[in-house]
Amino acid sequence: MDIKKIDKEVNKAVRLIRRGYNREYIIEKINGIYFDKEKIFEIAKCRIKARKKFGELAEKLFFDEEGLRYATPPIVADYRARRIKGDVVADICCGVGIQLIYLSKYAEKAIGVEIDCFRAKLAMLNAMIMNTKIEVIKGDALSKKIFDKIDADCIFCDPSRKEKEEKRKFETLFPNPLKVYNLYSSKTNRIAFELPPQISREEIKIEGEKEYTSLNFSLNRLALYTGELAECDTSAVSLPSGERITDLDGKIKLKKTDKAFEYVYEVDRTIIKAGLLENLAGKVGFDGYIIQIDKRRGLLTSSSEYKSAFLRKYVVVAECNFDYHKLNRILKKLGAEKATLRFSVEPEKYWEIRKKIEEGLEGEKHFYIFKVGNKVLVAERII
Ligand SMILES: C[S@@+](CC[C@H](N)C(=O)[O-])C[C@H]1O[C@@H](n2cnc3c(N)ncnc32)[C@H](O)[C@@H]1O
Repeated sequence: MDIKKIDKEVNKAVRLIRRGYNREYIIEKINGIYFDKEKIFEIAKCRIKARKKFGELAEKLFFDEEGLRYATPPIVADYRARRIKGDVVADICCGVGIQLIYLSKYAEKAIGVEIDCFRAKLAMLNAMIMNTKIEVIKGDALSKKIFDKIDADCIFCDPSRKEKEEKRKFETLFPNPLKVYNLYSSKTNRIAFELPPQISREEIKIEGEKEYTSLNFSLNRLALYTGELAECDTSAVSLPSGERITDLDGKIKLKKTDKAFEYVYEVDRTIIKAGLLENLAGKVGFDGYIIQIDKRRGLLTSSSEYKSAFLRKYVVVAECNFDYHKLNRILKKLGAEKATLRFSVEPEKYWEIRKKIEEGLEGEKHFYIFKVGNKVLVAERII
């Protein structure tokens, strides 16, 4: 397999897509090398899309549509690889191999298994382009043939899932994590899974540490570490900083208030989903109150300043009743240019409200509007 020739053909397709040529024209102009022309076109399209998730690295990686959708972002893949310790690690649902490549950085040997033939080849290409030595086996991780081949002291499994479903369940993941666990626990007690972060606790039918992963203040992943890999029952990690809160961190009970103090803090939803708000408060020694808490939002207030990757800090500069004209006058006085709404509104009404609030603003400052009961807070972000 001549990777340079494949790469050259993919890049040719990338250039033609960027110049705006249509699919039929591009397919006519490119050669099918190792893969047929349709697949070269798909890889090229994915390279363009992958920039958002992979930055400059996207220019040399190989993806198909599904492989890209579920590929682990590099920062998460590196963190996960550092937690999944083993001499020989097998990633038994390796996809296009992104997590596998990072696992190979920290293990003596890394083996990948992939049921989809095309994706297994892409994983090999990605390993070559990233200069990593991995072995990729094509096959079903639950089959006896593959099971017998895998000689590893650590198993990692990131199963496929439907793009959308009402309720995430083990039974609708491929392969079902319970089947993987029952099979592979005869080989090792170091088994880790990547689960859909929205899955409810009751649906997680395997004991272990549930680690909710935040990437840039947004819930991104949920890992389940079993056996020797587990360090507690529940944890949350914020990336890229690596700050971690666990259920073993001492708690501080937080009371509710509808009065805002000098500072308000937005809480990363990852902490709310993990149920670790009081542990976070305990770890930072938070002296203050909850203003608002629901499934989507957590808002705290205090007269003291705290620093945590799980908290976004704002200083309150004004407070008034919810009245568009009043709010607009306050923002003009404060020299505002923009005012971002930080409370729940129906999506179709968001810009209508924002336009009213921002009408005629000519300043330079960016403010954030929070709602507390029937009052609104005007706040400025402190970084
Ligand atoms: C979520 S993706 C993995 C993404 C990967 N962790 C990454 O970072 O690129 C899951 C992959 O598991 C594969 N898969 C599903 N069932 C499998 C099975 N029984 N055996 C092996 N691979 C399987 C799918 O084809 C898919 O490519």
